[in-house]
Amino acid sequence: MGHLTLKNRFVRSATGESRATSDGILREEVFPIYENLAGGGVGLIITGHMYVDPEWKCGPRQTGISDEYHIPGLKRLARVSRGNGTKVVAQLNSAGRRPDDMTIDEIRDASDRFVAAGIRAREAGFDGVQIHAAHGFLLSRFLTPSENHRSDSYGGTAEGRRRLLIEIATGLRRSLEPQFPVLCKLGTVDGRDNSLPPEESVATAKALQAAGIDAIEISTTFSGDYAQAAAEKIDVPEKEAYFSVQARTIKQSADIPIILVGGLRSMDIMQKVITDGICDMVSMSRPFIREPDLVNEMEAGRTHRSSCVSCNKCYNPDGFRCVHVSGRDREQ
Ligand SMILES: Cc1cc2nc3c(=O)[nH]c(=O)nc-3n(C[C@H](O)[C@H](O)[C@H](O)COP(=O)(O)O)c2cc1C
Ligand code: SF4
Repeated sequence: MGHLTLKNRFVRSATGESRATSDGILREEVFPIYENLAGGGVGLIITGHMYVDPEWKCGPRQTGISDEYHIPGLKRLARVSRGNGTKVVAQLNSAGRRPDDMTIDEIRDASDRFVAAGIRAREAGFDGVQIHAAHGFLLSRFLTPSENHRSDSYGGTAEGRRRLLIEIATGLRRSLEPQFPVLCKLGTVDGRDNSLPPEESVATAKALQAAGIDAIEISTTFSGDYAQAAAEKIDVPEKEAYFSVQARTIKQSADIPIILVGGLRSMDIMQKVITDGICDMVSMSRPFIREPDLVNEMEAGRTHRSSCVSCNKCYNPDGFRCVHVSGRDREQ
């Protein structure tokens, strides 16, 4: 992926820890989660989203990367995640605001904060960063016509709506050496009224590639209650890999590694989406909450699907937890 070699094609998709202090400093309980994930065999871990601006957090216990005092905890996080040859990328985010309400100065400030956070991530020892442009947060709201009604250069046309994202991608690429991967999680479907045409996401992917982005993870733009990003009840193979159509379309048009996330549960389906040319890497969130050592088990010959039943009961403002896991593991 860019200049980074991964030991396999499995990715842990960003999963917000909700375990930081009110100042965004990581608490002790976070580190064992990442140690376990790295020990479990996954090639690339994408951290939970970190706020780049303390005024625009996504929750009271979100991890911060907005200030220098966050760096010591982040250094430790990067270090423990690296066990076992795993690579780790920090996800950068800013909470959802209405694009229509923002002044040009506020937009430029948001862009500068993403770039400054990327520089901090490199200083902390991460292997790369991922820009979060999905799930109803700031950047995905700019992308979708159902949220962005601006008539200036940051709205109006598809190019205008993607301008903020591309400026951030360009700013990160300019400020970080080429060896340091910059990824993007891109909302490609509008969960509200389906107002984002597929060709627009293809054009955004191409613009990201031109800006020097190293890989794109495919998800949804505005999902409100997460129903579309983390779909429930993935109980039959047909429901797995639910962003395949979008991933395939983008992979066919843009020459950049594509990461597929969303409902992947079975090894044979993960193999198929790669051999069918839908994506280059497979990414999961909830299966790793329930089974951090899933990849080791698959490498050892496990054939049955992940035991995650996609009930979404792991969402918890005090930190994700699988309600179906008991005992010591539950402490994660
Ligand atoms: C508890 C929880 C926290 C999440 N936090 C984030 C996050 O910080 N950033 C992000 O991009 N997606 C986040 N997601 C969404 C996942 O990364 C993923 O896109 C979604 O769950 C679908 O993948 P899955 O079916 O493998 O769970 C979160 C999901 C869960 C369940
Ligand atoms: S609570 Fe457990 S089984 Fe349910 S979605 Fe979360 S990880 Fe999967």
